Amino acid sequence: MPEPRYAALLGTGRYLPERVVTNVDLEEILDTSDQWIQERTGIRERRYVADGESGAMMATAAARHALEMAHLRPDDVDLIVLATLSPDVCFPGNGVYIGAELGIPGTPCLDIRQQCTGFIYGLSLAEAYIRSGRYDYVLVIGSEIHSSGIEMAPRGRDVSVLFGDGAGAALLGPTTDVNRALLGTWVHSDGRHAEELWTEGPASRKNPRVAADDVANGSVFPKMNGQKVFKFACRHMVEAVKEAVDAQGVQIADVDFFVFHQANMRIIDFVLKALRIPESKTHCNIDRYGNTTAASIPIALDEAGRAAMIPPGALVCLAAFGSGFTWGSALLRWPTGEGGTQTANEQEGV
Ligand SMILES: CC(C)(COP(=O)(O)OP(=O)(O)OC[C@H]1O[C@@H](n2cnc3c(N)ncnc32)[C@H](O)[C@@H]1OP(=O)(O)O)[C@@H](O)C(=O)NCCC(=O)NCCS
Repeated sequence: MPEPRYAALLGTGRYLPERVVTNVDLEEILDTSDQWIQERTGIRERRYVADGESGAMMATAAARHALEMAHLRPDDVDLIVLATLSPDVCFPGNGVYIGAELGIPGTPCLDIRQQCTGFIYGLSLAEAYIRSGRYDYVLVIGSEIHSSGIEMAPRGRDVSVLFGDGAGAALLGPTTDVNRALLGTWVHSDGRHAEELWTEGPASRKNPRVAADDVANGSVFPKMNGQKVFKFACRHMVEAVKEAVDAQGVQIADVDFFVFHQANMRIIDFVLKALRIPESKTHCNIDRYGNTTAASIPIALDEAGRAAMIPPGALVCLAAFGSGFTWGSALLRWPTGEGGTQTANEQEGV
């Protein structure tokens, strides 16, 4: 019988623009207040790109960071999976630009559109491609620029205060050792709620897809039914974690570390309470970055790993919910450093 083949996490990386935008910076522009934002979301500040920073550029920087940790070179990569809701241009997708910036012409790429759940969907693709033997090394990247797409006026304040820019990446490769493996991914969608959190335009189902008054009527800016999104996020994040542990036949208490999509501190607090997870078993950075959609989980995972918050061999659960609605989870064993790869902790020398 051939040995089982699994996908393993070999490296993580991140890129955050240097420009910090605090709640106080937004007060005048959006008719909001630091207190309102902090009380309702836990966000204190977020990062916005500067001129010259693009989604592909941030994704490439995060990917290089992950490759370094894995001791691999760009030309080892067999597939790039890029999750974003904010591509640099309408088409082509950012994946081709990332391949060009990494200097690996000919390498296939996939751009996926599952918003805040995009990274988990990306992991599910990497898992399937690697387990089947089709590819060895798959880069999964989440990269977003929100700052150029949100409405910087009081009309859009409920959404605009939430989002920030950034990128996170993971490099996955094959292993025969289940104790180093991505154990599973579970993903879902329910398009009946597609328009509860969406940006309508430019819309190819309308002709013309961009009209002169689209900025004035607001159709090019994100819109959200905040209370409905909040309720569904709480419910589905809890269900997503339960689905992962049930499928693996383990208990919530057996999971050593959780990384949740960073949408709102109140949603994360709800999930921690509902599942009786101690705060010490998770890492949150929403106060510093806001919601970076597809980038949020890989950024938080990379921060937690490099800060030695996740012990080698730990059972780690990831869970996300977002526009679509989409939601999902993943369970993995944190790298042990054996077998030619290095853990995040060893990489940082801690
Ligand atoms: C957006 C969210 C923070 C709003 O909080 P809320 O308690 O539901 O607030 P409401 O929408 O009921 O609005 C309450 C009031 O605050 C006002 N308000 C909205 N945004 C505001 C802002 N940025 N600053 C100040 N006031 C604001 C509203 O106009 C409303 O005023 P009114 O009572 O005079 O009509 C909350 O609904 C939420 O977090 N939803 C989930 C968002 C999310 O996670 N999205 C991403 C999922 S991946």
